[in-house]
Amino acid sequence: MCGIVGYTGNREAAPILISGLKKLEYRGYDSAGVAVFHEGEIKIAKSHGKIANLDALTSGGASLPGFVGVGHTRWATHGAPNDVNAHPHLSDDGRFAVVHNGIIENYSALRDELIASGYEFKSDTDTEVISNLLEYCYDGDAKSTVMKATARLKGSYALGVICRNDETGITGRIFAMREAAPLILGLGVGENYFASDVTALVEHTKNIIYLDDGEFAELTPQKITVYGVTGEKIDKPVSHIMWDVKAAERGGYEHFMIKEIMEEPAAVKATIDPRIKDGRVVFEDFSFTSERMAKIGRIIITACGSASYAGEAGREMIEALCRIPVTVELASELRYRSPIIDESTLVIVVSQSGETADTIAALKESKARGAETIAIVNIVGSSIAKLADHVIYTWAGPEIAVATTKGYATQTAVFALLSIYFAELCGKIDGERYKKLVSELEKMPSKIQRAIDINHHIPYLSKLYADKKDVFFIGRGFDFAVCREGALKLKEISYIHAEAYAAGELKHGTIALIENGSLVVALACCRELYDKTASNVEEVKARGAKVLAVVHEDNKRAVSTSDDFILVPETEPLFTPIAEIIPLQLFAYYVAKENGCDIDKPKNLAKSVTVE
Ligand code: M6R
Repeated sequence: MCGIVGYTGNREAAPILISGLKKLEYRGYDSAGVAVFHEGEIKIAKSHGKIANLDALTSGGASLPGFVGVGHTRWATHGAPNDVNAHPHLSDDGRFAVVHNGIIENYSALRDELIASGYEFKSDTDTEVISNLLEYCYDGDAKSTVMKATARLKGSYALGVICRNDETGITGRIFAMREAAPLILGLGVGENYFASDVTALVEHTKNIIYLDDGEFAELTPQKITVYGVTGEKIDKPVSHIMWDVKAAERGGYEHFMIKEIMEEPAAVKATIDPRIKDGRVVFEDFSFTSERMAKIGRIIITACGSASYAGEAGREMIEALCRIPVTVELASELRYRSPIIDESTLVIVVSQSGETADTIAALKESKARGAETIAIVNIVGSSIAKLADHVIYTWAGPEIAVATTKGYATQTAVFALLSIYFAELCGKIDGERYKKLVSELEKMPSKIQRAIDINHHIPYLSKLYADKKDVFFIGRGFDFAVCREGALKLKEISYIHAEAYAAGELKHGTIALIENGSLVVALACCRELYDKTASNVEEVKARGAKVLAVVHEDNKRAVSTSDDFILVPETEPLFTPIAEIIPLQLFAYYVAKENGCDIDKPKNLAKSVTVE
């Protein structure tokens, strides 16, 4: 939700800021803006719509000279997405400019107080309260002013601030603060940066400082100084990021989403390989004992969106192999429903970004109730990675498309690893089965590649079905878990209404919606249950539905009356979801492409949901 970037150095700031915003555009893209300090003034350019508009407005930043600035790409929370509500927001007297990601919860009270003191507001945003509050608190030193003003803010924020010359005479300063929203600092030579995430900085520097909640940073071209809540200087470690610049670029593909689908074999390999040593599953961050495992009465997997659907696949794997009860809870529900969690509960949180607000809250709630927590996360140093007791990183690399693909695949791969690991500790698996499962898991990257290779006809199928208004995904067992992700993929990027139903539930209501020409995507890879799903296929066909069956490549007869087929390579049954989702991602991609949708930046969505 919203991306922010800041620069101070000896190069023109605006082109650097705009290029950084382009990298952050997946975080929000309804408007964008930059503020640059030049010859005693702060100059602002902003525009509704995508960053291309801002780029055109400023001729790539050339029309805004100056070496110090901040930028923002917005996902609207308060106020419509238009030029006035776009960030940066300038204080009444033009002294401060602010960019903000998050929500100021007490903005209404602050706004009333400022209006009573004579301030005028031009926008409907909560952020303008911050710029005017800065002016209100101004004491001649921008640094102490920023500290005073932010002490009055309640809510979540990653903030970037520039100030016109203050009485200290220090030039080139920008300020960055973090409270429950992601923010990192980048160290250059004679220049420094801040940004919402590393994708914006990786072309300039790989030396990063991760800010923690409550911390405040002062950046000049020469140095970065970080302060704690009470103003004390903090020595922060510098991390070296491993991502290659190219990893965050499209590299010849038309969209990030298709590039990221093609990267799935490598991403799953990178996630699995380091955790299999001499035929055994090992985790670098933690090791449980059988005694510890024996004390775990149940496991709760909590997450949002696709990450929760990866959790559904994970539940199938862990329950089948370990016979421990596992429930999957949406983080946005768990956080508010006084969950029954204690020391005997193991809570696994799943998040690609590591910054999802509801997942963070569910994690905190679980810890407060005494649970031991494991986070499955893609972003190193993210909030969830820092908060959880143990972290298992999915080594998927940067995922830029808003719709997750390799994030989901690597999360399910981690669940496969965990299920084997836990099963041994629970004494529920013999040596031979253990060996077989590890060897089958090692084959998954090539199985994923095969899932891509054997489905060359998907662009053709997409043309046949792109005009559907409603699509029903049905399946049983792990097929149903995959249905949920398949339906979400289709709806979020093609805007076609798609829902997942447990196939056995059709007769309990949903079948009333089936009519001539309805599209039913029937997943039938769960061998023990596919003849049941096949019966459901007959029922919908009898009512005029078109059926697209998702079956093992050697098993079209499973649902032989289907109109068309999507194929899945044969794998160890428990690990099927890791390969089964791939053609559904491709189907969603090609349907969206057929319909001319903005695939990487679907309307109303943002990559990282850092607000509730
Ligand atoms: O970063 P997270 O994995 O925590 O994000 C969770 C969901 O917001 C995310 O999976 C969302 O559902 C995606 N748009 C799915 O493609």
